[in-house]
Amino acid sequence: MRMPRIRKVMFPVAGLGTRFLPATKAVPKEMLPIIDRPLIQYGADEAVGAGASALVFITNSSKQAISQHFSAAFELESRLAQDGKDDTLALVRGTLAEGISQAAVPQHQALGLGHAVLCGADAIGPEPFGVILPDDLIVNDGRGCLEQMVEVYEQTGASVIAVEEVPPEHTHRYGIVSTSPHSERVEKLEAIVEKPAPADAPSNLAVVGRYLLTPKIFELLAATGTGAGGEIQLTDAIAELLHHEPVYCYRFEGKRYDCGSKLGFVQATIELALADPELGSPVADLLKQLS
Ligand code: UTP
Repeated sequence: MRMPRIRKVMFPVAGLGTRFLPATKAVPKEMLPIIDRPLIQYGADEAVGAGASALVFITNSSKQAISQHFSAAFELESRLAQDGKDDTLALVRGTLAEGISQAAVPQHQALGLGHAVLCGADAIGPEPFGVILPDDLIVNDGRGCLEQMVEVYEQTGASVIAVEEVPPEHTHRYGIVSTSPHSERVEKLEAIVEKPAPADAPSNLAVVGRYLLTPKIFELLAATGTGAGGEIQLTDAIAELLHHEPVYCYRFEGKRYDCGSKLGFVQATIELALADPELGSPVADLLKQLS
């Protein structure tokens, strides 16, 4: 059976970003740059690389910067054109590839990731869709994480969540899964629990910020009450989804940086700078001098 294509990717970016205050008082966390591209740009490029043609941003009222980033900037563009700065102009215009649409949906109160996803129900409609949390930056030499997951979705026709092993003492920061084997890199989800203490965790296999979900999740989210941390948790709705449909976990290829934490953000900045053709060598020299 041919699966409906994944056309839409949702970006829940309405969180308060408290770990980066005061930087995130007026600027959304997702607009913080790793070198010269904001986190949201890495996420958008990953979505487009996976075949998406519509990006849906779930935002709070202080996050117009994200929509602006993906829109035309007339004054800047005409100045760059006048000055003959064609390369820079291409960078400014290239934030959103031609033919890709963007829409912003408000989440008026930060009631949790599950609630944020539910806010996007009308914009997504009755079709499977992707979810990217841009503060989980996943870097890859080959295919992006979401593109890899689309392949698993095409094979299984079911929801797919990206997972990776984390240090056992970090389970309280993640949704944690227990699974049974399926195929290389793919496991069948058996149970999922949000932020368990290490002693209660069923494993150290953690959910990271990439999901491919069937639209059934919206119906289940609408009936999901508050869970861990007093928030409406996507994890709880996925646990319920398991009672209706199979769900698969995918051990993605690539390296994830938790850019929602200061250490992860700094690590991503250093490692991406070292990998940059222009910056790599001077940054390596700088690091040698410092060590
Ligand atoms: P986080 O747990 O990282 O929360 O949310 P946060 O508010 O962004 O950051 P801190 O912890 O206060 O520093 C995970 C993802 O879920 C989104 C966030 O924007 C982030 O992408 N989210 C969270 C929402 O969109 N709405 C919410 O109500 C909660």
